[in-house]
Amino acid sequence: MSIVYHENTRTFHLYNDTISYIMMVLENDQLGQLYCGKRIRDKEDFSYLFELAERPTTSCVFDRDKIYTMASIRQEFPVYGTGDYRHPAVEILQNNGSRISEFVYESYEIFAGKPKLEGLPALYAEDESEAETLVIILRDPLTGIRAELLYSIYKTGGLLARSVRFINEGQEAVHLTRAMSLCLDLPDHEYDWIQFSGAWSRERTPRTRRLEYGVQSVDSMHGNSSHEQNPFVVLKRPTADEFQGEVFGFSFIYSGNFQIQAEVDGYAVTRMLVGIHPDCFDWKLEAGERFQTPEAVMVYSDRGLNGMSQTFHRFYQKRLARGYWRDRERPILINNWEATYFDFDEDKLVKIAAGAKNCGVELFVLDDGWFGARRDDHAGLGDWVAARELLPNGVKGVADRIEALGMKFGLWIEPEMVNRDSDLFRAHPDWALAVPGRKMTHGRYQYVLDFSRKEVVDCIYQMISAILRKAKVSYIKWDMNRCITECFSAAYPADRQGEIFHRYILGLYDLYERLTSEFPEVLFESCASGGGRFDPGMLYYAPQCWTSDDTDAVERLKIQYGTSMCYPISSMGSHVSVTPNHQVHRLTPLHTRANVAYFGTFGYELDLNKLPDVEIAEVKEQIAFMKKYRRLLQFGTFYRLESPFAGNQAAWMVVSEDQKTAIVGWYRILNTVNDRFMRVRLKGLNPDLCYSSNLSPVKAYGDELMNLGMLTTDESAGARSGDIEMLESMDFDSRIYVLTAEE
Ligand code: DGJ
Repeated sequence: MSIVYHENTRTFHLYNDTISYIMMVLENDQLGQLYCGKRIRDKEDFSYLFELAERPTTSCVFDRDKIYTMASIRQEFPVYGTGDYRHPAVEILQNNGSRISEFVYESYEIFAGKPKLEGLPALYAEDESEAETLVIILRDPLTGIRAELLYSIYKTGGLLARSVRFINEGQEAVHLTRAMSLCLDLPDHEYDWIQFSGAWSRERTPRTRRLEYGVQSVDSMHGNSSHEQNPFVVLKRPTADEFQGEVFGFSFIYSGNFQIQAEVDGYAVTRMLVGIHPDCFDWKLEAGERFQTPEAVMVYSDRGLNGMSQTFHRFYQKRLARGYWRDRERPILINNWEATYFDFDEDKLVKIAAGAKNCGVELFVLDDGWFGARRDDHAGLGDWVAARELLPNGVKGVADRIEALGMKFGLWIEPEMVNRDSDLFRAHPDWALAVPGRKMTHGRYQYVLDFSRKEVVDCIYQMISAILRKAKVSYIKWDMNRCITECFSAAYPADRQGEIFHRYILGLYDLYERLTSEFPEVLFESCASGGGRFDPGMLYYAPQCWTSDDTDAVERLKIQYGTSMCYPISSMGSHVSVTPNHQVHRLTPLHTRANVAYFGTFGYELDLNKLPDVEIAEVKEQIAFMKKYRRLLQFGTFYRLESPFAGNQAAWMVVSEDQKTAIVGWYRILNTVNDRFMRVRLKGLNPDLCYSSNLSPVKAYGDELMNLGMLTTDESAGARSGDIEMLESMDFDSRIYVLTAEE
């Protein structure tokens, strides 16, 4: 890994084993982008990559020159209003009403490691030798604003992390009205754009279209990263697929309003912008103040989408997630939400836990409804004190009873919210976000607490930490069940109201930071009505996230497949629930529900006491299987093999680091009769090792399994040889193949 500055040509080259990123200080002292992609060897002069041609009707920089125009130059930190008509990386509103600025090169710094971003989640380096950081210092001479562009590269892996720090070294206050974290001008537009869109219970469906001239973007203005879009976009060459070809992934380590945009200009240059959504953002920067943007991450892969995903998985699992649980196998849990909803008391909970314990479940999670007047969703949010009529001895009482069963105890909270019918709201009506004199819009009868105010965050912290200090709580599910409206804070002046969305997120991160550092061994799982805030910002604090409220196995295949494009398997909350399923009312076999949920953190979302004995026996086997293989399932190298969006079958697999064990999940939506022979081509095996399978007497080398494929047709699995039973065959069927290399 290296970051080199070539003085003579004023060229920066960041490279490692996989990528190269090259920039040059331009003739007008602004910063130009020359190359981003597969690693190329370093040399002094790359200036031939600087593209400039006379373009009629453009506005030019130098007197007596009609070629040099910012309109078509590829740049790192472009502004609007001085000849470049594309969307800019930055916009600063000044006292005289002007929004024009000009950021010119001043100096640079290169240092080992990767700095923390104050108050914000970000990738980190465990020791200084594994990453290097370049800071390029630019300045707008008129306002004195200093912009520091941060670039970090790791020893290995096609990943670059970027952010911008603004420091007002001028005399007057300014307003940052646009502060994107990443701008990348690519030289052509021959890409497919893939976004991950959806809605509640159908999150992160990959949607692909050809990149076109003009602007295409995804964003959120929900106040959270949202169910509708994810802060993640892929650009892939049209010929690239899951296994080969060039792919860029752009991800934003942030949990609030965002925008990821591609703009293709008239000469087919593609400008990617990633950052806080500029609408609803206006940050006042007084003289002497600084503003740090969140971090954007770019991954390059020449091994297709799987290659890109594996890079994201490695970094997000090992260098974004932190703490005690980062590398630990996750406990198999049972959650009472779908088993009881709001209808429970302590005895009922303990019974559910005991039934689960009998099957081998390790953690019982008490979901919504245990506090204040929360007997339904009209009341109680904000009052984080146990409801004595349900839990006579408080949270400690029920936690002790669960612990006495030999299980761990987990608790649901929704700390950012308040019901009108709550003691907290009655005491502090101004603590909810609201515009004076205007109606407050509710979501699920609840309002959003003003987390831009320290006293509000402090108060919630006091309540939650008091519970965690008193009761033996090993896990927290942190929910967020509505988006933000009327984003106005009673605590800030008019010219700072544009800061509230972002200040809210800073308050949220502050609360997470305080709780996770005070209770480092508590496992946090984030959630927002399922997967409404499944983003890298959350993963920094909570290493797992409830993927979706949709627990149907067939739906989950799609949701988990789409989610895996960016996020590691160890981050995906996945549970077995009852049939008929509560969301789609579908009947699926128990084994398929587990076979999908194994590729995640795994747990149950039902009352196991209600299952017949034969299913209880099956559940016991599932839990034993998960305990045996969860390290591999959660931390192995994951490959998507066949897409559930493409046809009747889906498949994915994980492979151990030594390539000696692999687990393949194979799924068929509708049963077929008298069908063709089917096989799935495996990936990541050692071609020279011979693998045996739990489902077939046939042994095969890795090269056979990867090139010919593994037969998945029922009869092929050995029925002919008469020595094993015919495999089951039904609608919504699935199988788990465990492949073990022979010594
Ligand atoms: C939404 C979550 O996604 C569910 O799992 C559950 O915790 C409910 N909220 C409780 O209100």
